[in-house]
Amino acid sequence: MGFEREFDIMVVPTKGEINAPPPPPPRKNLSFSVVELNDKDIKTSSQELERILTQYLETLSHRTEYHIGYPVNICYEHHTVLAPLLQFHLNNCGDPFTQNTVDFHSKDFEVAVLDWFAQLWEIEKDEYWGYITNGGTEGNLHGLLIGRELHPTGIIYASKDSHYSIFKAAKMYRMEIETINTLVNGEIDYADLRSKLLLNKNKPAIINVNIGTTIKGAIDDLDLILQILQKCGYSNDRYYIHCDAALYGLIIPFIQHAKIITFKKPIGSVSISGHKFLGCPMPCGIQITRKRYITSLSTKIEYIASVDATISGSRNGLAPIFLWYSLCMKGRAGLQEDAKICNENARYLKSRLHKAGISAMLNESSIIVVFERPNDPKFIRHWQLSCTRDMAHVVVMPGITRETTDSFLKDLMLEREKWYQIGTTLPPCLADDIGSQNCLCSYQKMHH
Ligand SMILES: Cc1ncc(COP(=O)(O)O)c(C=O)c1O
Repeated sequence: MGFEREFDIMVVPTKGEINAPPPPPPRKNLSFSVVELNDKDIKTSSQELERILTQYLETLSHRTEYHIGYPVNICYEHHTVLAPLLQFHLNNCGDPFTQNTVDFHSKDFEVAVLDWFAQLWEIEKDEYWGYITNGGTEGNLHGLLIGRELHPTGIIYASKDSHYSIFKAAKMYRMEIETINTLVNGEIDYADLRSKLLLNKNKPAIINVNIGTTIKGAIDDLDLILQILQKCGYSNDRYYIHCDAALYGLIIPFIQHAKIITFKKPIGSVSISGHKFLGCPMPCGIQITRKRYITSLSTKIEYIASVDATISGSRNGLAPIFLWYSLCMKGRAGLQEDAKICNENARYLKSRLHKAGISAMLNESSIIVVFERPNDPKFIRHWQLSCTRDMAHVVVMPGITRETTDSFLKDLMLEREKWYQIGTTLPPCLADDIGSQNCLCSYQKMHH
């Protein structure tokens, strides 16, 4: 049984298909079944079970070296200390701040983590409400739901580079959504936002502000958006702002001096993913909002002897402890150090790509290096890259060292020679996607 077999059976899209890629092929490596130990031959079944698990662990350990395309921090050591917790079922269903009748939850840890984030985003302990979600998506779903509860006729405004969870929320809640263009660096197009706000002045605005877009790591200018709202005649009670800070929520506060995310500004909610920059073995996230907004969402639930204003029912009680432990071990100083190193390593990668004649872009304070989509699905799969149109990106997370980026670059340069050696295929032009100054394709070279 080979977990890696999956890499060999990718459908190869032709160049023309890149803009409209086919649906991904079905998984082909589901070649083991449940091994029931009460079958006749217990010894053989146990061996089979052990073999499956060992092989899975080996594959995962090996593949961590090629995990550069998605924003997950896989560098943590807390599993050894926290492993004994796995013997308990910890379930944080319901409100983190109210009493429970059962003991098997970790709400004390949850509130400690929330307090830490409330302090980071400058909102008083008695003025905020929040909970530990299943991830950034749930935070976005929750933030936009509060917006909708406060403004039932409101329109969602989100840039086209927003995470797909924003569009999912609009669909789930059957809300009107205005998709706003983006600037070439991925930031929201402020002129387009302004004109769409003016067109819909009769309805309140629920705005998703990206503090780091998924593909380009672009940060929307919250202050400018607030100014635009004011100039377009939207008073504070006619808009709601949700900040999607899934990855950058724990980077930006530590490398930019100006406070970008702060509840001192008229924002309604902020969400991040806990497994992204901080790192956690299980998906999780943090959602913080203003306490006064939550009353309309809160329902008293007799079954769990609690009130509930969250999206899901049962919630992972292990996640808050892992987050708490990471925050204790790292602290602000550790996060600052991680952010600095990642930003430096990202700049190093971008400059090496440019030196090698490869189109690449890196936003300021970003850790996401966008470059040309590799011309081989096997290469993309091997390095676990995420691709959009003709772009791919490397997310330079903690633990992605210069050795890893060097080995990636070496591999890319070697393969690239093969892809483009005959001259019948040329590297894609990325001028529209990343700006002509960052595009090094032959067309751009001739014209600049
Ligand atoms: C900007 C942004 N928002 C939200 C999410 C969703 O986060 P999660 O995967 O934790 O649900 C992502 C994930 O990549 C993201 O990049």
